Amino acid sequence: MTVKIFAPAKINLTLHVTGQRADGYHLLDSLVAFVDIGDQITAQRADQSSLIVTGPFADGVPTDATNLVMKAAQISGLHMQMGLDKRLPPSSGIGGGSTDAAATLKAAARLGASPVTPAQALRLGADVPVCLAAKPMRMRGIGEDVQQIKLPALHMVLVNPRVAVSTPEVFKRLEAKDNAPMPEVLPDWPDGVAFADWLTTQRNDLQRPAVKVMPEIAAVLTALALLPNVLATRMSGSGATCFAVFERREEAEAAAAQLAHGNPWWWVKPASTLPA
Ligand code: C5P
Repeated sequence: MTVKIFAPAKINLTLHVTGQRADGYHLLDSLVAFVDIGDQITAQRADQSSLIVTGPFADGVPTDATNLVMKAAQISGLHMQMGLDKRLPPSSGIGGGSTDAAATLKAAARLGASPVTPAQALRLGADVPVCLAAKPMRMRGIGEDVQQIKLPALHMVLVNPRVAVSTPEVFKRLEAKDNAPMPEVLPDWPDGVAFADWLTTQRNDLQRPAVKVMPEIAAVLTALALLPNVLATRMSGSGATCFAVFERREEAEAAAAQLAHGNPWWWVKPASTLPA
């Protein structure tokens, strides 16, 4: 039996850095959503674990034990022959490695492995627990404290200028680490427009340090802010992928076409949130 699992991109709609633990990891308060574009994992049981990577971003992705997919397989306790269709740009702030690892754990469970504990998932990466849920979440702590939230449907354009950004490098450039969290009680947003309006009052505290590491991010944010019908713009995770929010899917698609035409080198995708 071969199983196929979709590994959706993770978008940090907000990302407030609220502190730092003694071990160096940062405390976050982040709203996370998952969208209809992503990687795909295929897996079947085998005598030994192996990984083949294909797809537009396969180049340079390791296929050995350093890949989070192989680490996830090991934690699951199953040997699997796996395929990864890499459609998301790597090291780009939209959870590629974490969502692949989460999809691998789901594949292993479908093939008969016992479920892994949240603590084991967290050990693979701070974003793996939230990627296992793949639903709109408020994520606190370093990623272990996840709480499902109600989010209206959102339509976006995602843009990556095809530059990989090192997450530790961005955290290192962070000036203030004790920023305000989001409000304890989140509003009840009636629709995407109300959500986008609220979003503009929140932050991604990693945006400024990421621009210092990779100035192209500023160019992307400027281009997004100039799009017709745009409601809000921000960087996701530690970058470099940024997003713009629109009321309607058609507006996001038109904006994506316009951006891709003007910036043929950029990775540009219209995306909508997955239903909860
Ligand atoms: O957990 P993950 O491997 O995705 O994190 C990559 C790096 O990002 C960590 O080694 C750490 O430097 C930084 N990080 C952090 N605080 C977090 C998540 C990641 O400092 N909450």
